[in-house]
Amino acid sequence: MSRAVVVVAAGSGTRLGIGDAKAFVPVAGELMLTRAVRTVFTLPEPTFVVVVAPAARLDECRALVAAVAGPAVDLTAVVPGGADRHASVQAGLDALPDGVAWVGVHDAARCLTPAAQFDAVFARARETGDGVVPALPVTDTVKRVDGDRVVETVDRSALVGVQTPQVFPLRALRDAYTAALQSETDDAGVFRAAGGVVRTVPGDADAFKITTRWDLARAEAVVAGTRA
Ligand code: C5P
Repeated sequence: MSRAVVVVAAGSGTRLGIGDAKAFVPVAGELMLTRAVRTVFTLPEPTFVVVVAPAARLDECRALVAAVAGPAVDLTAVVPGGADRHASVQAGLDALPDGVAWVGVHDAARCLTPAAQFDAVFARARETGDGVVPALPVTDTVKRVDGDRVVETVDRSALVGVQTPQVFPLRALRDAYTAALQSETDDAGVFRAAGGVVRTVPGDADAFKITTRWDLARAEAVVAGTRA
């Protein structure tokens, strides 16, 4: 199988304030992790899935992934995460089987990301040979600040917000992670720091990251809207 997705789900969810690992928080009755993994299994092209989970919840996570994967359970692995996202992604990359050429790294916290977004990012990466990220224009006015003092307005026409999955040629991403001198908040940052080219495709509003309770309420509303 030539492609894989690493779903990072080992974050603590401190900002959500629920006192549970974030990916194990339900959205409209279904765990974020279940939603995120199920989407990967709906993709038309067979895709190996590695879930990076909190070390204390590996068994629970394995059962959950097995339930979602069904007969495709052989195409999955569950591994413990690290102290930050960077370390968790590295653990996921280490667990990929031979033969994978393209890897997407996906936040479990973006559990409503549409399947079409995965297909679009993988397709553009294969077409160009580069790293590819989904991106949306920034709509707020953006200021640079020093403490509480506004220093300047930043030209937002040159800014985007990026989402996941972020897709890369696996060997180059592995090399970039090995060479990384500092933790980055996304994989495109690691890839670029190692000299790789990263391109964008249009993102989707539903691929927002659930970080706060407000995001969770928004996610519940999106699911309710889909059902209506
Ligand atoms: O903390 P943040 O919301 O930026 O995390 C983004 C994604 O990275 C989440 O899906 C989270 O579970 C994952 N993560 C991880 N290991 C960590 C920290 C975050 O897998 N140590």
